[in-house]
Amino acid sequence: MKQKWLLCLCLISILGCLTNKPQVTDQVTDEEGPRLKIVDLIDIGEVEQGKTVEHLVKFSNAGSEDLKIDEVQASCGCTAVVLSSNVLAPGEEGELKITLDTFAKKGEISKTITFFSNDYLMPEKIIKLVTMVKAPPHPQFDAGETLFSGHCRSCHVDKGKGLIGTSLYLGICYQCHGVDGEGNSARALSDPDYLKNVDEAYLYKWIAEGERGTAMPGYSDKHGGPLSERQLNSLVEFILEWR
Ligand code: HEC
Ligand code: HEC
Repeated sequence: MKQKWLLCLCLISILGCLTNKPQVTDQVTDEEGPRLKIVDLIDIGEVEQGKTVEHLVKFSNAGSEDLKIDEVQASCGCTAVVLSSNVLAPGEEGELKITLDTFAKKGEISKTITFFSNDYLMPEKIIKLVTMVKAPPHPQFDAGETLFSGHCRSCHVDKGKGLIGTSLYLGICYQCHGVDGEGNSARALSDPDYLKNVDEAYLYKWIAEGERGTAMPGYSDKHGGPLSERQLNSLVEFILEWR
């Protein structure tokens, strides 16, 4: 009886092997279809605070069909533009220009760049960009000069246009202080211990005037910022509601 079972198992495995065999050749190989080939990590090394660095990265289509780049997205402070055609024939090379703004940054910085393409093994390819930003001991830049101008303005100012209170905060403040005031790159504003020690005048002054050498610009239209007194007061009121 035992021997029969063994024979049976043996036959099953042989049959299994035979039927499995053709599948090996059916498998998608790395070269089939469109295939984006690019580095995973770019290390720019040391950069001085406030400098804008440009970096060119080559990529290629290592596949057998046309590679189509639909979009390239980069995290804030970073832009990525495909200089070559968005469609690469098999074997063709392309070039990406990455621009990194080190405004208000210090220490180790890591940003991501995402390629959306028709490479179905990797439709969203993420590459990492790292750099070390050297800041002077007492930086003296004016955050408003950068944040309120150029393309920074489209997010850091325009998203608050004509708004007050909660929606104004969720338009232009959450980026650095967190959606619920929990803090992000800048301090937590909804922290109960913090709120115990501040009053309206203190918050108003900070938001209206900001502080030189930090990413906090003076938002008051009296200091060249985009916000009216009514908008500033609505933000103070909004923050104090976290108490
Ligand atoms: C497309 C919208 C958009 C644009 C344009 C934009 N930002 Fe931002 N920014 C964000 C968002 C969202 C965050 C929060 C999350 C993050 O860090 O990506 C942020 C966060 C920040 C921060 C705090 C976090 C950090 O990385 O230090 C700074 C400083 C900043 N932006 C500066 C700038 C400057 C300077 C420019 C122009 C060169 C700019 N931003 C352009 C959307 C934008
Ligand atoms: C680009 C980043 C950024 C944006 C946007 C931003 N802040 Fe700030 N904010 C900072 C930094 C940096 C500081 C100072 C250092 C810290 O607190 O981390 C600060 C400080 C403050 C303080 C004082 C904190 C203290 O130490 O007592 C308040 C209040 C404040 N911000 C409110 C706001 C409000 C309201 C908005 C929206 C109108 C806003 N911030 C937008 C980065 C930002």
